[in-house]
Amino acid sequence: MAGSQHPVPAGSLWGVPEPRLPHEDRYGQGAGEQGRPFPCSAGCLVASDGIDPGYAGDLDAVPGGGFAAGDGSPAPGSLFASAERFITLFHSENRAGPPGRRLARVRREIETTGTYWHTTAELEFGARVAWRNSSRCIGRLYWHSLRVRDRREVAAAPDVAAECVAHLREATNGGRIRPTITVFAPETPGRPGPRILSPQLVRYAGYQAADGAVIGDPANVAITRLAGALGWRGRWPAGRFDILPMVVQEGGTRLELHELPADAVLEVGIGHPEFGWFADLGLRWYAVPVISDMYLDVGGIHYPAAPFNGWYMCTEIGSRDLGDTGRYDQLPVIAWHMGLSMASERTLWKDKAMTELNLAVLHSFAAAGVTISDHHTESVRFLQHLEREARHGRACPADWTWIVPPTASSATPVFHRYYEDFDQTPNFYRHPAPPLLAPARLRDHQPGLAAW
Ligand code: ARG
Repeated sequence: MAGSQHPVPAGSLWGVPEPRLPHEDRYGQGAGEQGRPFPCSAGCLVASDGIDPGYAGDLDAVPGGGFAAGDGSPAPGSLFASAERFITLFHSENRAGPPGRRLARVRREIETTGTYWHTTAELEFGARVAWRNSSRCIGRLYWHSLRVRDRREVAAAPDVAAECVAHLREATNGGRIRPTITVFAPETPGRPGPRILSPQLVRYAGYQAADGAVIGDPANVAITRLAGALGWRGRWPAGRFDILPMVVQEGGTRLELHELPADAVLEVGIGHPEFGWFADLGLRWYAVPVISDMYLDVGGIHYPAAPFNGWYMCTEIGSRDLGDTGRYDQLPVIAWHMGLSMASERTLWKDKAMTELNLAVLHSFAAAGVTISDHHTESVRFLQHLEREARHGRACPADWTWIVPPTASSATPVFHRYYEDFDQTPNFYRHPAPPLLAPARLRDHQPGLAAW
């Protein structure tokens, strides 16, 4: 599931996803207890009030969701059409015999309840195929091995938070990362289902001062502000790598903050195999990227909270998270320590610094026993995946601009060809950003928000 290094779309500095675009932003540790204002157990509630109900109201609708608008229910006919396509695919790929009887049951269920319930096998298959259909993901060779945690009975925010913590622990697996998804309650007619507002389960705070300067990750300014509005006090003093609490919403109601216990989040300090000074930069990153702001669509049923993870590819952290000028912007400081001349672009100081930063990320994760891959290996695997899909007679959608790595692009085989891209369900779709997570500069006039 390694991922994206797509050129940053407008607004993404603020963590605002492109509305209604399919697919996740794929391409894209021992955090100390001290300084934590809310010592707590797994997934505990740390704050729930203090938010202006006017804002909370903005968060009710889940556009793109099948059931959330108005009375909300999709026409039974269109739901059945989606169900029929999926159930037929399930039966044919799993050699489960003719789908007729199952389809008749699904049709009756939709007629009487307005929705239908997937079998465990259907849900597992649906989640795996959603990964397989994610055209921005270079890491799909292992789609079949996705571990599916069926938590469809879980809808209350504290339980969602606790299950997210359990997900992190199981997926981290001491460093041998396991691609995993947890599927929470679906949307049903009249019930929107739970939602996670945090873009990933683990994110570093981005504290923005009045002059616009940011301490931490600028990508997370909006979600940090939202946490502040919900009562999170932040760490003091503010650090560059302070782990945010999760923001969880129970079925269209108010938002809750839930801290992640420090021992559920594995982090890796970044050092370099040769440059002794590198560790002194104090850089670190978390081990497991768990995307949490996308909904899973399987056969017309929407699962609004379905956090999933793979493992990192080094360029996601080295080239983008720590390298982008709109993120941690570490290339100048690394180049300076390397003694490179930054007087001219033509010394290629950025290229050299970026390569060493990627090397440091790979080296540090490996030394810590944490799964990570590099863009060369992952590119070869992706072409294997394409071949395998072709052998199964399946077309594989892929988005060149996301598949091609941001570093050493033309040195990887995925660069030298084109792909067909198309939208196919099951799939993951990003929730449209709620107004509360709109770019900060558009919201500066709004009252009631924390200073940062
Ligand atoms: N690019 C994102 C990040 O740097 C993570 C996206 C998912 N990546 C993955 N390898 N599954 O945090």
